[in-house]
Amino acid sequence: MLIQIKRSTLVASLALALVVVGPVTPVQAKAPVAQMPQVKYDYNMDIFHPVIAHNGMVATEQHLASAIGLDILKKGGNAVDAAVGIGFALAVALPNAGNLGGGGFMMVHDKDSGQTIALDFREMAPAKASRDMYLDEQGNVAGGRSLYTHLAVGVPGTVAGMEHALKKWGSMPLEQVIQPAIDLAENGYIVSNALAENLAATKESLGKWDTTKAIFFKEGEPLKAGDLLAQKDLAASMRLIAKEGAAAFYQGAIADQIVEEMAKHDGLITKEDLANYKVVEREPVKGTYRGYEVVSMPPPSSGGIHVIQILNMLEGQNLNEMGHNSAKAVTLMTESMKRAYADRSEYLGDPDFTKVPQKGLTSKGYANSLVAGMPLDKVTPAREILPGKPQPYESDQTTHYSVVDKNGNAVAVTYTLNLNFGSGIVAGNSGILLNNEMDDFSAKPGVPNAFGLIGGDANAVGPGKRPLSSMTPTLVLKDGKPWLVTGSPGGARIITTVLQTIVNSIDFGMNPAEAASAPRFHHQWLPDELRIEKGFSPDTLVLLKEKGYEIALKPAMGRTQTIQVRDNVLYGYSDPRNPDGVTIGY
Ligand code: GLY
Repeated sequence: MLIQIKRSTLVASLALALVVVGPVTPVQAKAPVAQMPQVKYDYNMDIFHPVIAHNGMVATEQHLASAIGLDILKKGGNAVDAAVGIGFALAVALPNAGNLGGGGFMMVHDKDSGQTIALDFREMAPAKASRDMYLDEQGNVAGGRSLYTHLAVGVPGTVAGMEHALKKWGSMPLEQVIQPAIDLAENGYIVSNALAENLAATKESLGKWDTTKAIFFKEGEPLKAGDLLAQKDLAASMRLIAKEGAAAFYQGAIADQIVEEMAKHDGLITKEDLANYKVVEREPVKGTYRGYEVVSMPPPSSGGIHVIQILNMLEGQNLNEMGHNSAKAVTLMTESMKRAYADRSEYLGDPDFTKVPQKGLTSKGYANSLVAGMPLDKVTPAREILPGKPQPYESDQTTHYSVVDKNGNAVAVTYTLNLNFGSGIVAGNSGILLNNEMDDFSAKPGVPNAFGLIGGDANAVGPGKRPLSSMTPTLVLKDGKPWLVTGSPGGARIITTVLQTIVNSIDFGMNPAEAASAPRFHHQWLPDELRIEKGFSPDTLVLLKEKGYEIALKPAMGRTQTIQVRDNVLYGYSDPRNPDGVTIGY
């Protein structure tokens, strides 16, 4: 068995015609720079090395879940069987993000048909949700209502999503793939440093609810590293799901617990809301980049559209020649990011309720028109583009995992409770933490959400609607076969993290370990700051400041879980930014 060894010392480290362009040198829109030189792995040159395997691989943010997924593969399960087993296991082992009470997206590549399907199990707003439900009497956004109250909870989709995937593409029964997660919840596991830190950081929101404290607190304080975390109620809920399927969650005893919890605390979710929850199979959003095909999550995620939009803007430029993380490359990518995030605020929402101009946003022609007016020697301040009022709160407690099996089927899943432990509310005796995904709606057009993201009418709250997401589970295909399977948590920063993973892999020929370990940067249009991780050269930062960027050194961004397939060999790596993540293969 091959397993990733963590190194604690890893630093290495249509629309935007609104942009006001100053009298500066614009980038020339060019024909795509077709193919970067194919870089071979040269072990003498690489500092970080991926895990290598030949028969199957899983990359998750929690080693216990990785082990469960690999075991399913070894027992003959396919990538979907493993992905569903991991989905339940992370609800136990990574309770701040893994979940039954949240939602997410799954990309499934079926080797036999060559098709990739985008499975949408995003939360839905309850039927009683309304556009202004998060505004106070003065019409201002009421602080915290969309985050830490029962009104913050969207109708969860994860259990329906997992069941749907397993029935449609899996080969094992639900009882079999869920059993390891039940055992883990029943017997417990030792709280890691990372989980203890997350619990401590969320003490206030978790500590408000007795049902939550009963699980995650000991003697009035959050569990500490080294404590045992057993989740017997969660184990019992999963036993019910094993026996009755998703019906237990949406119509049965678990539904009763959720509805009772809501009724007690003025929440909106009813039994009808749960019974009406629907998983949707969607056509992925597709693009091309230097001879590769990029296949990603369509709306209600903004991720796929904007990764492809930005790649289109980069394709005419020779990033490789500019140099990785050079001031020139960072400027080109940052200006492209700004334009994409501005479009996000205007055009993106639930496609079942709003018409998203997906074709236009992902067309090469549109990208060329944006690039043609893009100044790179003196940047346009975002506030000259449209007004905004950024909010400092940030969190990136979503999680991503990737699986490839021996037959070449590939699965990329990103799912979430939204913020760390979601709303912090455990529903009755179910042991199930509930999301606060309603905050991903735009509570009031122009006012930022918890990620500082601005939204418009397209993402206004509405009954039965799915809030806009940035989650970007993505496959990059070469000759129709998975070449890169990737994704990340990180809220608004997911899109730019996935973008940099693709660019690092294609333009700079990095292996998954090098691509994950490289320092990242991020710009989301508003707030108007170029956010960077440590590891950039001071010389580069001086050059970027001279161009007019407001540089903000902030905590690490994203935690990718990437598997690359080259010549039928699997190369994988769990982002070093989370010490608990492990890639494992056989
Ligand atoms: N809750 C974060 C996202 O879906 O983008």
